[in-house]
Amino acid sequence: MNTILVTGGAGFIGANFVYYMLENHPDTRVICVDCLTYAGNMSTLAKAMADPRFTFYKQDIRDRAGINAIFDREKPDAVVNFAAESHVDRSIEEPELFVQTNVLGAQVMMDACLAHGNIRFHQVSTDEVYGDLPLDRPDLLFTEDTPLHASSPYSASKASADLLTMAYYRTYGLAATISRCSNNYGPYQFPEKLIPLMIANALADKPLPVYGQGLNVRDWLYVEDHCKAIDLVLQKGQIGRVYNIGGHNEMRNIDIVKLICAQLGKPESLITYVTDRKGHDLRYAIDPARIHAELGWLPETAFADGIRKTVQWYLDNRPWWEQIVSGEYRNYYERMYANR
Ligand code: NAD
Ligand code: TYD
Repeated sequence: MNTILVTGGAGFIGANFVYYMLENHPDTRVICVDCLTYAGNMSTLAKAMADPRFTFYKQDIRDRAGINAIFDREKPDAVVNFAAESHVDRSIEEPELFVQTNVLGAQVMMDACLAHGNIRFHQVSTDEVYGDLPLDRPDLLFTEDTPLHASSPYSASKASADLLTMAYYRTYGLAATISRCSNNYGPYQFPEKLIPLMIANALADKPLPVYGQGLNVRDWLYVEDHCKAIDLVLQKGQIGRVYNIGGHNEMRNIDIVKLICAQLGKPESLITYVTDRKGHDLRYAIDPARIHAELGWLPETAFADGIRKTVQWYLDNRPWWEQIVSGEYRNYYERMYANR
């Protein structure tokens, strides 16, 4: 049986990937390594915990000895590194943590792969490593050859990990690939991020805090399409290669927030324009031509369907996010949004 080790599997995309792999690869064991930061949630993995093909380790990826012990014991055939600090606003508050987890943690994972016989390593990265594109040049898209030009401590830490991954491939021959995906949305996304935050606030009739004028553009992809793309890169991707993942679905923030209001039957008067994010990237847009041409990947979920499913998921799973927004998250929210 094939064994795949997934880091960050108690977070949003990692958990969706765990379920994707368990469902689509009946001969695969999934080992999850996650230290359960504020963003990690065992209730997300409750169903997986009941599956004999799934094993969970509460483990920090920065801890070499702990990681090596798991490799010795589980002997993974492949590693997919999702574990990261993932929120731009938090990176502006606490950049050092982002360097530690996103760069040094990734290095520990790569070293463990090399030390255990050059295990196949996939680094989950982001389109944010390319910086941003102008709003008035819709013809420009990020390709894999676009120079790295990160704007936030978050994106700089992800870009650093990408550079290290490519250096490990070139120097040590690490069997590595990288994928750079656009903004994801779907079930189990932590409510600090745009879409779940707006859904949770709207349902509570709270203000919907739109940064600046809400004109920034993101290229949204349904999380399951991302999982499928990573699986393909893992199976068929060329070693040493970067693959962009995105769905040609550019939307302005304000239009997303209005759509959520409409779906929930809430008034747009809840929308409140607040002080802009520092260094706020204007526009992200991915050119996914390579992954389409080489691996045959195309997104399958249209945004209209994906956002409807996502809103419905948050309606159907209130305990999951209500537990989060009623806890420590309240302090974060107060810190980030009061007097903004
Ligand atoms: P998330 O914040 O929801 O989850 C991150 C997970 O990593 C959590 O379970 C957390 O407990 C775990 N983690 C954090 N630090 C750790 C450490 N030191 N050791 C072990 N586990 C640790 O993040 P997400 O949105 O699911 O993103 C997952 C990955 O995908 C990240 O690498 C992110 O950069 C990348 N990505 C995210 C998006 C997006 O739209 N969310 C888009 C492109 C790429
Ligand atoms: P976010 O979900 O944090 O993802 P990223 O910054 O990685 O793209 O934010 C998406 C967009 O929504 C971004 O342009 C910032 C904006 N935004 C708001 O306007 N208000 C909010 O409360 C949040 C969290 C984000």
